[in-house]
Amino acid sequence: MTRIQQSINRRDWLGTALTMGGSLLLSPYLSKEFLRQNDAETVIKLNANENPYGPPKSVLDSIRHFDGELFRYQGIYANNLREQLASFHGLESQMIMLGAGSSVLLQLLGHYVQQKSATLHYCSPTFNILPDTLKKAGGKPNSLPLTKDYKFDLAALKEADETPGAIYLVNPNNPTGTFYERTEMELFCKSINSKTLIILDEAYIEYAGDGQSLVGLLKQMPNLIIVRTFSKIYGMAGLRMGYLMASAAIIRQLQQLVPWPNHDLSTLSLVAAGNALQSSSFVQTTRTTNARVMQSTIKALESLGYRCSPSVANFVYFNTKGRNLRAALEGYGVQIGQLDYENQTYARVTVGKEQEMERFVQCLQKLN
Ligand SMILES: Cc1ncc(COP(=O)(O)O)c(C=O)c1O
Repeated sequence: MTRIQQSINRRDWLGTALTMGGSLLLSPYLSKEFLRQNDAETVIKLNANENPYGPPKSVLDSIRHFDGELFRYQGIYANNLREQLASFHGLESQMIMLGAGSSVLLQLLGHYVQQKSATLHYCSPTFNILPDTLKKAGGKPNSLPLTKDYKFDLAALKEADETPGAIYLVNPNNPTGTFYERTEMELFCKSINSKTLIILDEAYIEYAGDGQSLVGLLKQMPNLIIVRTFSKIYGMAGLRMGYLMASAAIIRQLQQLVPWPNHDLSTLSLVAAGNALQSSSFVQTTRTTNARVMQSTIKALESLGYRCSPSVANFVYFNTKGRNLRAALEGYGVQIGQLDYENQTYARVTVGKEQEMERFVQCLQKLN
């Protein structure tokens, strides 16, 4: 039996084992021995939409050469970052709240929506922390389907809106990567009842190009909240730094829900984030490289017969034609996400480095 046949037999068995046993069974197959048998030197991690190039060198240098007083609490650095973000976005610092990653701020927003007794309308599949938190807090998330082209269904959201209301938008959306241009999103937000809270998650907005954020609307729309993160294009997921922007009145209300607002953060992450804001050329280069590698990945996937949703982010969502590719690829040391939708099997692969995507495609070819 050839090595590839052996490996494919192992993969079929593995697929069955994984389907039966779920994710608890995954780790043994990523042992060094298993990877070696499958010609995979290391695990290729394409399952969490991380930026494989980041952070920018200047950010790493700012951590390496930090000579401030780490024995002191971080308050002054938190205030500095709020100031820096305010000037970066043309806002006042009272309109910024920081969090150790944007997930923690989305959780906070879940409690805020619950406090307002608002039903949260959104579309699925999307990033679930906000609706899940609301549900756990006893609230009412209302999930609507995406449009046929995998986008948030803005018309259906507008129709569902009620008072007191809340709408969660993710633009670009995770896992589909689909996107509304700023002008279209702006029209939608302005068409919504001004008492409805609009929570707009822009975790991947930098990948969509300059000037696509709705941040310019914040001063006119006191019902708009925008959530951003340093985890994606800035490549700082492990440093845990996110922020939200809203009217000073909303920020004050949110701050009342946490014991120590803006301060559950590390000095080094705060310094690094302030530094990252100055790396506009890094953002541009990463965006261009990501788009190039994503296009060749989509081309390869389509030539293998997989239909992809049109993504502007750093991941691709595609129909796996009934297969659990996550389990099968794990056998080759390649980790992707499997996120099924409407009784069909779908996978989401993060756009990694060129060589990583080549390996991903080679493994898919073996499986085809
Ligand atoms: C749409 C979206 N929002 C927010 C987050 C949370 O990111 P973090 O907590 O790292 O800021 C993610 C992470 O994948 C995401 O996809």
